[in-house]
Amino acid sequence: MTDIHPKEPDAPARPDDTRLPRPVVYPVLENQPALVTGANSGLGKAVAVGLARAGADVIVNYVTDPAAAEEVAHEIEAMGRRAIALQADVSDETAVQRMFAQAIDHFGTLHVVVSNAGLQRDSPYDEMTLEQWNTVIGVNLTGQFLCTREAVREFKRRGVDRNLSVAAGKIICMSSVHQQIPWAGHANYAASKGGVMLLMKSLAQEMAPYRIRVNSIAPGAIRTPINTSAWSTEEAYADLMTLVPYKRIGEPDDIAQAAIWLASDAADYVTGATLFVDGGMTLYPGFATGG
Ligand code: NAI
Ligand code: BGC
Repeated sequence: MTDIHPKEPDAPARPDDTRLPRPVVYPVLENQPALVTGANSGLGKAVAVGLARAGADVIVNYVTDPAAAEEVAHEIEAMGRRAIALQADVSDETAVQRMFAQAIDHFGTLHVVVSNAGLQRDSPYDEMTLEQWNTVIGVNLTGQFLCTREAVREFKRRGVDRNLSVAAGKIICMSSVHQQIPWAGHANYAASKGGVMLLMKSLAQEMAPYRIRVNSIAPGAIRTPINTSAWSTEEAYADLMTLVPYKRIGEPDDIAQAAIWLASDAADYVTGATLFVDGGMTLYPGFATGG
């Protein structure tokens, strides 16, 4: 009888697994300035560098650690693209508007906005403070509103420039598998990502006639500073793998590849979609052997 639950094909993927995809990236975003929030760390950094690999000039947003942001900007410049690091707290309306004005002043316009900045303030529900709640909603949800609103203002103003793209602009919201998977001890975070889901869809519906595409990426567990405790020890990594059918942690470049595709005209008929990049985390792994 065929075993429908085979053992892993060869050695189990470990935290230091290096057998990762090395895809070729074509310069499909040439001359399309892209703004990435929270781009001095983790997924934002990988997306910023990935979009530059695909030809974009990049605005590297940060709120703290300007040195890390400058380093990302230099890495992008070394690839022959233009880059600028701009400070702004995405939950602060004035700061966001200033950043978009500076970005447009510097590059002339914007074609891609990746609303990525986010954080966790975890707590058991009955101990969660209003500050923990407001901080997470403020950055993860209100921050997405403020950045995407400035993005659509610029995309509508400019319209389609057929020399560069068949869309007037592309927005990518960084959501999470927790827009769908409830998460005890992280109610503020799950609520913020659930909010991102319907913010993104409502915005996509409203902006489609303007040829502005709005989509989300919903990462599973990706190796970044936000979740170090989930992968930095062998025991934690083994625990994490019980939630990941594909049996490896995600790497930031897995998310960058998805962002490049969503930002490119290859995804022109895709709007209002959430692309789960999660190694199967949303496939109810507990049911692989039960139910
Ligand atoms: P990270 O902690 O490495 O990066 C978060 C970035 O957001 C940092 O650059 C941080 O400075 C920035 N940020 C935080 N508050 C900000 C503010 N008020 N204004 C501007 N920037 C601010 O973590 P990671 O993993 O790269 O997270 C990026 C996004 O990906 C977040 O939205 C997170 O919720 C999401 N995500 C991450 C997953 C993972 O497994 N790493 C999985 C699913 C979603
Ligand atoms: C969280 C990470 C977590 C991942 C999978 C993300 O949204 O930020 O901490 O590892 O979801 O649960």
